[in-house]
Amino acid sequence: MPEAGLTATVRGRTVLIAGATSAVRGRTVLIAGATSASGAAAARALIAAGSRVIAVGRDAGRLEHWAATLRPAQGPDAQGPRTAAQGPGTAAGAPALVTEVCDLTDESDVALLADRVHDAHGSIDGILHLVGGWRGGGGLAGQTEEDYRFLEQSLTALRCVSRAFDADLRASEAGRSAIVSSTAVARPLAGGANYAAVKAASEAWARAVAQGFAKAARDGGEPLRAASVIFRVKALDGLEAQLADRYVRLFAEDADAINDTIVELSPA
Ligand SMILES: NC(=O)c1ccc[n+]([C@@H]2O[C@H](COP(=O)([O-])OP(=O)(O)OC[C@H]3O[C@@H](n4cnc5c(N)ncnc54)[C@H](OP(=O)(O)O)[C@@H]3O)[C@@H](O)[C@H]2O)c1
Repeated sequence: MPEAGLTATVRGRTVLIAGATSAVRGRTVLIAGATSASGAAAARALIAAGSRVIAVGRDAGRLEHWAATLRPAQGPDAQGPRTAAQGPGTAAGAPALVTEVCDLTDESDVALLADRVHDAHGSIDGILHLVGGWRGGGGLAGQTEEDYRFLEQSLTALRCVSRAFDADLRASEAGRSAIVSSTAVARPLAGGANYAAVKAASEAWARAVAQGFAKAARDGGEPLRAASVIFRVKALDGLEAQLADRYVRLFAEDADAINDTIVELSPA
């Protein structure tokens, strides 16, 4: 596969990216809420670039069906998807795609997931947070408690997952965490107030993760190697490959340049 994009614009600057795909080769990336089209695009791009993907979903059947569609993308040496029940993988001959069933809004379930992942694969390098969903409409009067609680699950999952794997990303040579937020944060509408509020809170959380990475590096007298990035998009439909490509490229970018930044994705 040719090296993905050699430059990117970060904070208005064009940053040279040397070997975007080689930077992610050999990394282990957890996709939190993988069973959507964007999860599939990300898994494909990461596997093609030589990383191992741990795809997490809450429904075993949906996850297995999703993983089956990715098998041809894994290459001739890859094994089929694994679940925790299949036991730990090994560094040599480890599968490119591993599936894990977990309710990411359940703190104890996520703690067990982290134990299984660490036992089987060691520390991870990246997290792509995709748990989301949309509910809205009906102006402010239509912002129901039920819809808010549904949407809040994505923030809960983000909090649980990022806490469980924070030490991994700080220890990695290139820890990369990313969330997918919405342009609604910059322009909230009454009919999407619940959604915008949850996305704004998720952005605050992602920025706090970024500050934690920076503080840990500073306190340890080490260069910053981990980065937490916010992708913002209006509608993801049709931009799944762009999201995947941008996430892969984060590994080749300098953590200092991208930590605590917002990257807007838009149709070409
Ligand atoms: N779609 C858009 O136009 C758009 C626009 C702006 C931002 N975004 C954001 O982009 C991200 C990705 O969006 P998307 O539309 O690709 O995916 P999504 O449908 O919002 O959710 C991604 C996956 O998360 C899984 N999930 C939900 N709750 C879970 C839980 N408790 N534990 C484990 N997995 C869980 C879902 O699995 P199940 O199959 O089990 O439900 C689903 O496959 C989201 O954060 C979304 O808010 C999307």
